[in-house]
Amino acid sequence: MARDHSLEQQALKVLHQNSHLSFYQDTLQRHILPSRHYYTHQWFWDSCMHAMGLAYYDMKWAQDEIASLFHGQWDNGFIGHIIFNTSDTTYYPGIDVWGTKQLSPRNVYTSGIIQPPLLAISMNHMDLLSSKNDNFIDTYLPKLMLYHTYLKTVRDKEDSGLLTIIHPWESGTDNSPRWDSILSRINVANIPERVKKDVDQNRKDTKNGKISHRPQRNDYYRYLYLVDMYKNLKWNSDAILEKTPFAIKDTLVNSMWAKANQALSDMLTRRNRLPEAQLFANWARETRSAMRKSWNNKKHLYALYDVSYGKHQAIDTDTVSNFMPLYAHIPTPEHLSALLKKLTDPTQYGSVNPVPSVPLTSPSFEPTRYWRGPTWPITNLFIIEGLKTYTKNAVCQTLAKKLLRKTEAMIEKKGFYEYYHPFASKKESGVGFGDFSWSAAIYLYLKKRYTIQDDQTDSVRNSHQAFKKSQSS
Ligand code: GLC
Repeated sequence: MARDHSLEQQALKVLHQNSHLSFYQDTLQRHILPSRHYYTHQWFWDSCMHAMGLAYYDMKWAQDEIASLFHGQWDNGFIGHIIFNTSDTTYYPGIDVWGTKQLSPRNVYTSGIIQPPLLAISMNHMDLLSSKNDNFIDTYLPKLMLYHTYLKTVRDKEDSGLLTIIHPWESGTDNSPRWDSILSRINVANIPERVKKDVDQNRKDTKNGKISHRPQRNDYYRYLYLVDMYKNLKWNSDAILEKTPFAIKDTLVNSMWAKANQALSDMLTRRNRLPEAQLFANWARETRSAMRKSWNNKKHLYALYDVSYGKHQAIDTDTVSNFMPLYAHIPTPEHLSALLKKLTDPTQYGSVNPVPSVPLTSPSFEPTRYWRGPTWPITNLFIIEGLKTYTKNAVCQTLAKKLLRKTEAMIEKKGFYEYYHPFASKKESGVGFGDFSWSAAIYLYLKKRYTIQDDQTDSVRNSHQAFKKSQSS
């Protein structure tokens, strides 16, 4: 039976329509905006995801997406979570709020904070699909290694194996309840009036989008308070880490960090650069081991650590980030069975449109408010791929397949929304902004990497090879 390509075509159309052209060092370059409705610049982990989906359809397009991220890399290796389009002012906080002009490369403007470090994962995926004579990865490997070295030396100075994040936005899960206890220590009354006024006058997400879907006002004051503080500290990392009330060893970010170091190591191994490959494999191992130690046996979750002001205090809020270690194959058999129970429990994460960002019965659960309840395709992808790595565990394989089908069905039914209502019966299943790029890219990635192979061979073990073979036959 002929396969229906129409949704794949629509997904590609969304990515095409959200493409942005600009000049960089006198050459025309392109990248994809997460959404024309609001996110009108380039976002780091969104772009890593765009490239992963695009790699199956147009490798050059995927490479442009990644190259554009590297164009924003600072001399010290840092890559910001936003690379700004200088002509667009739709999004707040824009270029001037960050005060990073002196640090960014010439004529490129970026934010001063990171996002989950997916870059090596994305590049490794591209590497596996690229033709032999394509030297894109070789060209950018030194920059990628510099980026990893930056993260390790600046965000894990104490060599704990775990990176520290300094802003909720660095986790990619902005208003997750796992930040509540820390953010509540920033007293809104003590935030300078000029910061609050700037937010009140310039915040646009609540105007372009629905106010009930977006983070609360007091949280926005706190987000901008942190940015203002770091700007005043001239983005000096040592000073920031010493003074910030928000310094966290986060589960999601560190799961990606472990996976990314392994991916970088794999790319180097493929090139026979064994001592370097060993170094990054060691970093991955250290992170996996540190995360296993953070397991809370009573609550069945990987704790986060608040390391502000020299503390080392566990935070045990249960959110979808607790499943992210699956992606880096961190859970031991005991952890795994506890996680599987939570994932399938209809009072916790087993919703009609799984996997909600917060357990359904948590007092913090709000079905449409951003990272406080809705289901996000990106976290689903990490869970699906994580479960698939437990190749000998039939329960994991079955659940991965089920989640894959449900994620695709959710997108097929509603279109490419930013995120989704966890209950399908509600009318408002697609939430946030529509025509959203990473939902389109994730749809393409899942289709090509798993569904098509599943349909044809019922095997996903060697899906990269299977894909390559299917292209050449
Ligand atoms: C929001 C999300 C973040 C994403 C960005 C652009 O800030 O929380 O994860 O990268 O939007 O889509």
